Amino acid sequence: MVVLGIETSCDDTAAAVVRDGREVLASVVSSQIAQHAGFGGVVPELAAREHLRAIQPVVETALRESNCTLQSIDAVAVTNCPGLVPSLLVGVSYAKGVAAARGCALVGVNHFLAHIYGALLDADLGVVRFPVLALVVSGGHTALALIEANGAARILGATLDDAAGEAFDKAAKILDLGYPGGPIIDRLAKQGNPVAIHFPRPLMGGTGRPRREEDRFNFSFSGVKTALLYAVKGRVVTAAEMSDLVASYQAAVVDVLVAKTLDASREFRAGTVVVCGGVACNSRLRQEFAAAFAGLELPLRIAPPRLCTDNAAMVAGLAYHSLRHGVTSGFDLAVRARLDHDLETVPFAPGVA
Ligand code: KG4
Ligand code: ZN
Repeated sequence: MVVLGIETSCDDTAAAVVRDGREVLASVVSSQIAQHAGFGGVVPELAAREHLRAIQPVVETALRESNCTLQSIDAVAVTNCPGLVPSLLVGVSYAKGVAAARGCALVGVNHFLAHIYGALLDADLGVVRFPVLALVVSGGHTALALIEANGAARILGATLDDAAGEAFDKAAKILDLGYPGGPIIDRLAKQGNPVAIHFPRPLMGGTGRPRREEDRFNFSFSGVKTALLYAVKGRVVTAAEMSDLVASYQAAVVDVLVAKTLDASREFRAGTVVVCGGVACNSRLRQEFAAAFAGLELPLRIAPPRLCTDNAAMVAGLAYHSLRHGVTSGFDLAVRARLDHDLETVPFAPGVA
């Protein structure tokens, strides 16, 4: 089954053609970084206008690269939540147009679950052990989710304020380093000392546990950002200090992500741990997760970088599993900004009825 996937939830216009949920025949991403860089963040209306401009050429390129035509695809899948509403509307309306013209199935896809599937796209799902504990770290989300073998899924904890990606992007804005901050900080931090400056590890507490039990799997990054702001306020930062600052800041963010994921993996007896989303590209995060899970009999799957940041292969791939179970969307498919903490049944779990 060949699925055309479309992704426009934030600032990347993406299309992909995926066969049977695994074989990526083409995956095209058109980035809007240049358009938003001057603002230091994504401007929703501008993003929607750019999607309108980019979507047709991006889909055409994906079809051409995959040697497919609209006639040869079996279904069209599109991210319909969570995300920026004006951006989502462009992709969803386009996908409805394709489905109507072609008379093929339409599948609305949850972007958060698609990120998780991105880390498993290359995997043999038959050998993936459940429950799967997933850390999703992107510009829009930071959350730990647990997926049971029967497809039941729930959010164990999430950020109370900024997402991890936002923590990097806002730090880069404070330090005037450019946009998006994550990759810039990642690069600069390589020359710095990660223990040079102490930054707080929020909601971890001195012993690794937060004061309030209900925050055990929650995150908070706005305090680290404020600490950074005070560390540089009113003074000139030298180049050497700058790399120490960002290395220490990055270490604080990564420490919290690793510690909470490890804690949750033990508490919920995870069979597999998945790390995904744009921030999972971070080189220190990848090293620290690999080191923390190295001695454990617990498979760790960090999404490959091309499937960490927003893409449509993860959308088309996840939709294949919905289609396998006969789950499709109607033309009344709506868009939604927020992540619903009662996640829908995850279609790639082995025990889905
Ligand atoms: O998943 P994604 O492409 O979009 C959302 O769904 O939000 O994630 C984008 C986020 C941005 O905040 C960006 O700064 C961050 O991922 N990011 C990184 C790295 N590459 C991208 N953060 C840290 N280190 C990186 N290497
Ligand atoms: Zn994303």
